[in-house]
Amino acid sequence: MYDGLSGLVDAGENVLVPAYLPDAVAEPFFDLGLAVRYYRLEANLAPNLADIERRLDDDTAAIMSVNYFGFPQPGLGEFMSLVDEYDCYHIDDNAHAPISVDNGTLLGTRGHLGVTSLWKLLPIPDGAVLYCNDAVVAEHLAPSSFAGVREQFGADDCRFLLKSAVAGLLNMSLTVSRSVDTLIDDRGMSPSVPDPSVRYEEGKAPMSKLSAYVINGADPVAIRNARRENYRAWQRIFDSHDDVDVLYDSLPAGICPQVFPLRTSIPQRVLEDLECCGVDGAHTWPRLSSTVFENPEYDRATTLSREILVLPVHQHIDPSMIEAVGDRLPR
Ligand SMILES: Cc1ncc(COP(=O)(O)O)c(C=O)c1O
Repeated sequence: MYDGLSGLVDAGENVLVPAYLPDAVAEPFFDLGLAVRYYRLEANLAPNLADIERRLDDDTAAIMSVNYFGFPQPGLGEFMSLVDEYDCYHIDDNAHAPISVDNGTLLGTRGHLGVTSLWKLLPIPDGAVLYCNDAVVAEHLAPSSFAGVREQFGADDCRFLLKSAVAGLLNMSLTVSRSVDTLIDDRGMSPSVPDPSVRYEEGKAPMSKLSAYVINGADPVAIRNARRENYRAWQRIFDSHDDVDVLYDSLPAGICPQVFPLRTSIPQRVLEDLECCGVDGAHTWPRLSSTVFENPEYDRATTLSREILVLPVHQHIDPSMIEAVGDRLPR
């Protein structure tokens, strides 16, 4: 994000981002001297266009949309018309959906620039992609010292491999399946997670050679199919639960879910029930920025951050494990 924007924006300008967003996402904008303005969302996670228009001004450099949980951003057509009208850059935040394809278009490639996280999809220590989909963006790209891939395997790679091996020895189950995302990289959204600026600074390094190696060998079709199967297994379970709303009823062809998101007014109860059935990889999402959390202006974002739970669909999970949870889960 920093690299994509650094040649396009000036300190003192502002960027509009959705309020329902992890706290650390704003860090590259702060690093560039930009002010971050959070805009409201509709209940279906579409941008609230009237709210965006209210917050825009001549100093707005960019507006960001988000493909939440691996699915396309709802309301994108109207959003893009607005961005065009105000002549801002559109950032397509695709952290969750590196291999989702929507009607033939790879998600993350609909903005002037887009970003995708690879470590959220694959068991790798780090890795991200910047898409420059606009001639001006590509022309102004000035890669920083933390772009690219490291030339050597390092101590971090060894540490990661050791932890992965331990997870393998523990016979990775649903109980520890979030380990792929947290045990290994310690970057889950728990209160013990370090301050966003600390995490951001720690991430300022080229992608590890190990990540590049795993990515080169990965089979996106197999990964997508496995995640879709796991998504459907959760969906079969929760379709019949009165206290739970499945966030996305439809799983269109090409979409690779990052997680299985659901909404419930009794999140703690559902988490406890899941934990009793051996799932501790479920959690609320995300940890919001302190500007947003419990700010009455953003009451929907705060409510969503308390009521949306995300369940693991990682490709290493066998759907039969999810089905076994369904057999035990109280109604
Ligand atoms: C919507 C969204 N955008 C961006 C990011 C940042 O991705 P990364 O952790 O790879 O820097 C995250 C991380 O959780 C995210 O959820």
